Amino acid sequence: MKWAGNKYQILDRIKAVLPPGRRLIEPFVGSGAVFLNTDYERYLLADSNQDLINLFLTLQGEGAEFIGYCRSFFTGENNAEGRYYELRQEFNTTSDTRLKSALFLYLNRHAYNGLCRHNLRGGFNVPFGQYRQPYFPGKEMRHFLTRADRAAFRLADFRETMRLARRGDVVYCDPPYVPLSATANFTSYSSGGFGREEQAQLAELAQELAGRGVPVLVSNHATEFTLNAYQSARITCFDVQRFISCDGANRGKVEEVLALFGDKVIV
Ligand SMILES: C[S@@+](CC[C@H](N)C(=O)[O-])C[C@H]1O[C@@H](n2cnc3c(N)ncnc32)[C@H](O)[C@@H]1O
Repeated sequence: MKWAGNKYQILDRIKAVLPPGRRLIEPFVGSGAVFLNTDYERYLLADSNQDLINLFLTLQGEGAEFIGYCRSFFTGENNAEGRYYELRQEFNTTSDTRLKSALFLYLNRHAYNGLCRHNLRGGFNVPFGQYRQPYFPGKEMRHFLTRADRAAFRLADFRETMRLARRGDVVYCDPPYVPLSATANFTSYSSGGFGREEQAQLAELAQELAGRGVPVLVSNHATEFTLNAYQSARITCFDVQRFISCDGANRGKVEEVLALFGDKVIV
């Protein structure tokens, strides 16, 4: 999936500090970059995006046949503006989960900038992306299937997922980024409902889990706010080049932080 904030670029850095354990829990799984590139025995993968979790569950449940079905939408005929808006409309109105999941993948590769944005009525409203030949991620879907039997997927808020952590688990949290500039509107409504309060609660929960012997790694922008919220963690900061950003002004080099709360798994 093209996913805002995906972690492919900094995978090696994440893997270098992610502690070993029996099960990896990702409360903000997104496109699953960490799941697909690590080797834990078991995974608990959650996100609050229903379309994303339905796509993963449908692929996991149906297997290779679903890959073929998804591929059938990636045709030259469907890579045209008029057809894109018809399929977008179908995505927004269908109650067939299989069709909706396949269309979600189609939209992810044909929509402008791979964005995932909804209007107030909940409809996906990103315009046509005009790509010459959108990539069909068949290889990646097959790779997903080789690992999917280790994973349980959940549609859940991060607070619920983090409460499920037990000794022997390791948690990797990749929340929506805090805004970079101090002047950016950082309220409870910023970043798709993920504001200051949620960021602070996440840091508190991470500290609480670490206290119970469950290490938690959190990634975010390195700002005064995050460095303060992650005070009790072991901190690594580094620069990263960002390509996908909803906000053009935020493209370019930014400093990221990896904060490790509790660095020993107690079994
Ligand atoms: C930065 S992205 C994760 C990117 C992911 N690590 C990857 O490599 O693609 C943040 C994710 O948090 C999810 N999210 C936002 N608010 C959430 C919440 N309250 N609980 C759980 N997930 C949430 C979004 O749907 C999004 O997938």
